[in-house]
Amino acid sequence: MTPLFYASRITGTGSAFPERRLTNNDLAQTIETNDEWIRERTGICERRISDLTQTSERNSSLGFLASQRALEMAGKTPEDIDAIFYGTCSPDTLVPSTACWLQMKLGAKKAWAVDLNAACSSFVFGLSMADQYIRTGQIKTALVVGSEVLSSIINWQDRSTSILFGDGGGAVVVERTPAESPRRILSSHLKSDGQLWELFYIQAGGSNQPVTPEIAGKNLDKMMMKGKEIFKVAVKSLADYAIEAIEANGLKIQDVDWMIPHQANLRIIEAVARRLDFPMERVLVNIDRYGNTSSATVPTALDEAVRDGRIQPGHTLLFDVFGAGLTYGSLLLRW
Ligand code: ACO
Repeated sequence: MTPLFYASRITGTGSAFPERRLTNNDLAQTIETNDEWIRERTGICERRISDLTQTSERNSSLGFLASQRALEMAGKTPEDIDAIFYGTCSPDTLVPSTACWLQMKLGAKKAWAVDLNAACSSFVFGLSMADQYIRTGQIKTALVVGSEVLSSIINWQDRSTSILFGDGGGAVVVERTPAESPRRILSSHLKSDGQLWELFYIQAGGSNQPVTPEIAGKNLDKMMMKGKEIFKVAVKSLADYAIEAIEANGLKIQDVDWMIPHQANLRIIEAVARRLDFPMERVLVNIDRYGNTSSATVPTALDEAVRDGRIQPGHTLLFDVFGAGLTYGSLLLRW
């Protein structure tokens, strides 16, 4: 195998959320639920919901704001970007890709741009792909985005799903660094299991079943979930993939300074921390304020902790995700 001369490193982070807060009490006005149940079962207190009459709150607009902030932190301009990897399962339009909308909005003239959909794992899948392109020398600078307007695919009558999700976007700038650089992405580990598609899916809206007024009336073009089954798979897979990433680098869980798991349910995160014997004080959590924002959970939690100074140079970070598909991924990096 040809030796690799490069590694990659995150040099900028950014995030953006719509303005409107939807609290648990707001939800209790329209469906049979209550604040106590939602907090206890999920850890969620409120989430942000886009006003889609405002062009500034569409998916690519959240991605745009998050990207601008990440570029500013990295000291880069849109012209520096070679490629955009846009993780989303709630795109602006199916065609063109949301990545292309973002490329146009940023004026990232030389960047090629592509959407990728591994549901909630999309950001980590995109970051892993950017890392591979950078390490092989094909590109120098990438923008990796995880951004969602999940409110557009929620069945608001279904209390088992509508309480869980929110809108938001996160982005990182990833740059080439020497292969031996201590501050770099150390490894990534991805997996998919299509056999488990039925745990989380949207029945209509693709070529399997176009949306008709009747289909839309039954909410078959909205997210459906088997919550209890996902819960169990999530805890096991998050724990297993964390260990895989740590062992691949000859490290121990105690060597990780911050774990950033996908934020689907605080109880899932706590169960994983218990299983790994990892202290919750070193797990970054934002689900309380934003709910499950799918591909945006990891980059937004990362951005928050970078900006408030919890994450410091030399820290070891573990990203650990799962999503519909099902998809799983972990990524270890030294900040
Ligand atoms: N408010 C009040 N009561 C409710 C609500 C609600 N919103 N939802 C359900 N209940 C009731 C149920 O009807 C049930 O009542 P019963 O005992 O009288 O039958 C009771 O509460 C318990 O319901 P469960 O479904 O068993 O509740 P559970 O503790 O399993 O929590 C939850 C449900 C929160 C959805 C949990 O299963 C979960 O978080 N699962 C994982 C979800 C997940 O990870 N989703 C992401 C998938 S991948 C991705 O991120 C795209």
